[in-house]
Amino acid sequence: MIDPLVILTHPLPQEWIVTLEGHVRLVVGTEGFPGVSPELLEYLPEAEGILSLLTARMDGRLLDLAPKLRVVSNMAVGVDNIDIPYCTVRGIPVGHTPSVLTDATADLTMAILLSAARRLPESARDAREGRWGIWSPTGWLGADLRGATLGIVGMGKIGRAVATRAYGFGLRLVYADPAQYPELDAAYSALRIPFDELLQTSDFVSLHCPLNESTRGLMDASALKMMKPSAILINAARGPVVDSVALVHALTEGWISAAALDVTDPEPLPATHPLFELENCLIVPHIGSATIGARRRMAEIACENLLAGLAGERLPHCFNPDCDDNKSGLPSR
Ligand code: GLV
Repeated sequence: MIDPLVILTHPLPQEWIVTLEGHVRLVVGTEGFPGVSPELLEYLPEAEGILSLLTARMDGRLLDLAPKLRVVSNMAVGVDNIDIPYCTVRGIPVGHTPSVLTDATADLTMAILLSAARRLPESARDAREGRWGIWSPTGWLGADLRGATLGIVGMGKIGRAVATRAYGFGLRLVYADPAQYPELDAAYSALRIPFDELLQTSDFVSLHCPLNESTRGLMDASALKMMKPSAILINAARGPVVDSVALVHALTEGWISAAALDVTDPEPLPATHPLFELENCLIVPHIGSATIGARRRMAEIACENLLAGLAGERLPHCFNPDCDDNKSGLPSR
């Protein structure tokens, strides 16, 4: 029997996807292409699986070209690049990679929060460029953490991992989330409060919600204006949760004091973007999950999801389990 054809939207290190060997015929897209590269299109009619990166946008129009598709496996926890309702209606399971990047992303969140709070990029640059005079009592003053309030927007796995770390720094924790987390509240004195109140009272606002139609543009001009002028915004979720134009105003007009961004809209952010000109805006290139261990496990789980889908089995990490309702020939739940 001939192995199923699988599209890998971008190259991955061979040792991360070794479990695919001997099970699939792989066609691989172009390194660095910001989407599904054009040479892959001719393979879609025969493709039974797609292993995608979060940069590969897959809408219904593209997926319509793949009538034999049985699984989409995204090497990311977020699946906002994929038309999930479309996949669900077609009975196509979409795999993702939760949990394995939680610690890496929470660590990075604390890293950029601390960097912005303590002005590391500016002070490191000044030291390197010869602006390090005698020790100055008032030089490069930053924000205190102990006793300050961290508002976490979205208390999923990553939000909770940030909460445990932040507690260690003496930050008081408030959060906005559809759900209450009594254990977290008890262990870390966290308080669930309305979103507007979180914006008004937090010294740091850290975003950890998924990108969907209700969170797109959540941090628009009116939300940014609600924040304290001394507050710092941290985004390690998805770029479009923050309105970039409004953020430029917020940072230049003093609505907030600083921002630390792992994700931006657009992404990649062009080097000429006004946000790059702002001293009070720290930007790193979407490296939340970029540790050797996390990225390797993400790829391995993406392969496990893919192989399960091709075998007609339930995916170990399926984002849309309700797709089963639209699938024929599967054992019932
Ligand atoms: C990274 O941003 C992910 O969603 O995995």
